Amino acid sequence: MAKESAAPFVPDKADLARLREAARECRGCDLWEPATQTVFGAGRERAGAVLVGEQPGDQEDRRGEPFVGPAGRVLDRALAEAGLAREDVYLTNAVKHFRFTRNEGGKRRLHQSPNTVEVAACRPWLAAELGVVSPSVVVALGAVAGRSLLGPSFRVTRERGVVQACPPFDALGARPERETGVRLVATVHPSAVLRAEGRAEAYAGLVADLRVVASLLG
Ligand code: URA
Repeated sequence: MAKESAAPFVPDKADLARLREAARECRGCDLWEPATQTVFGAGRERAGAVLVGEQPGDQEDRRGEPFVGPAGRVLDRALAEAGLAREDVYLTNAVKHFRFTRNEGGKRRLHQSPNTVEVAACRPWLAAELGVVSPSVVVALGAVAGRSLLGPSFRVTRERGVVQACPPFDALGARPERETGVRLVATVHPSAVLRAEGRAEAYAGLVADLRVVASLLG
């Protein structure tokens, strides 16, 4: 087993409440220490779609819930426009702790993307969540989520909006070899919409990709 891994902390045959409780004590990598708390997934236990982001941001870290900051507001609006509601999906992240550095004055916490070791270490939590929720569609929001779900060759520009097979949940991080019937749709991360020069166009692309998800859910 990899040195850094959440696996020893993930209880067997647990429901979401038990997983969430256990994730509070996760020490599977070093990110727990500077973070305020573990930010576990949230939403319906039996949702048709699970949306996977990168990692909690500053506000999520303080509040303990995924997608409650600026990126979450973009996501909520895009979901609604695509005919989906936050209440009907399960929202989570590839990594469950906020990774940050401090600005020069030390007051502001600046987001840093998680590295490949941290993403791999946290993958057992994502696999466990997917196993319990058992969605028919998994949505990768951005490159980190895409690589956690499909492996290092994932490219968001090439694969966004395309319906593909999702790997079995116990074998995430690899292109699927056996067919499970679960679909995967990738799209841009909502924060990329906020950073984009052509924000309206980037937002329209996010909505279009989420409409693909909505069409799969019927
Ligand atoms: N960005 C993410 O990827 N996830 C969150 O929960 C918030 C911002």
